[in-house]
Amino acid sequence: MFELTRLKIPLVGVTESAARACAPCIGSGKKDEGDGMAVDAMRSALNEIEMKGTVVIGEGAKDAAPMLYDGESVGSGHGPVIDIAVDPIEGTNLFATDNPGSICTLAAAPSGTMYRPGDCYYMEKQVYPRAAAGRIDPRAPVAERLQTLADAVNKELGDIKVFVLNKPRHDDLVGEIYACGAKVKLISDGDVNGAIMAILNRGVDALLGIGGTPEGIVSACAARAMGAEMFGRMAPQKPEEIEVCAAAGVDTATWLRRDQLITSDDILFLATGLTRGDYVDGVSMGRDASGHYITTDTIVIAGANGNVRRISTTVHE
Ligand code: FBP
Repeated sequence: MFELTRLKIPLVGVTESAARACAPCIGSGKKDEGDGMAVDAMRSALNEIEMKGTVVIGEGAKDAAPMLYDGESVGSGHGPVIDIAVDPIEGTNLFATDNPGSICTLAAAPSGTMYRPGDCYYMEKQVYPRAAAGRIDPRAPVAERLQTLADAVNKELGDIKVFVLNKPRHDDLVGEIYACGAKVKLISDGDVNGAIMAILNRGVDALLGIGGTPEGIVSACAARAMGAEMFGRMAPQKPEEIEVCAAAGVDTATWLRRDQLITSDDILFLATGLTRGDYVDGVSMGRDASGHYITTDTIVIAGANGNVRRISTTVHE
């Protein structure tokens, strides 16, 4: 029984309104201001929906950014009981500098089905397309994993491209990918984007490396909804985070499988483009005969059937 299907359009309204609210700050250099606008708009829109929602993965704790906080109740308080993972602006630097790939994103699933990472802000991730699902051992060396991937997608290893966040912590990983002859798409920010590109086969074949844990859970929802593959393991990076995770006995060795990160198939993943992207357009604004307009483009992936929808909405103000 897929309960979330009927929340599809109301939830599209959530990421759309967040995108409309923060769009004036694209390219303004004001990332916290934009984030705050997206958070406020997302919260108001979520509260208009007939549901008993809980934000289980908020975003912002690692960077002390504006946020919907973990455990926050959203919705009317009646209707389906659901967990929500949000990232009101994923890729805030890209957003503030008007570079491609920033999105407003949200994932929803039945209550208790999303992995709760606690105070671990960073996760090491591996995302592969559906063709590779069930074929890759997350513990195998990079070269072996990429060869298995290449075989699964019918490509030469030299034609495999991996999305990796451009961070010093990934120097060795990038070296290993080059060493086996595969290619790397190095991008400064936005690994949900990298995950979706790999899942939808939009210019990369995989995502590897360490990024935010909230982004990892959102990506796992998209991966499961599409039948794609994902593994994640906790990888605390900041000194205080390392200390807290060690004290809490967080397991940093074991790869969690996709179906441990999200245990239901009743999933909705949504992303509205802010700046131009590989699978959604950015927000566009202008003036026509009816006045000032703003157009958004949203992708919705439904776990009920793996259907991928693009929804373009134009609102006049
Ligand atoms: P923000 O939008 O919160 O800035 O996140 C951007 C991002 O690149 C994520 O996609 C990624 O998971 C995370 O930051 C990596 O964190 P860091 O930049 O601290 O390495």
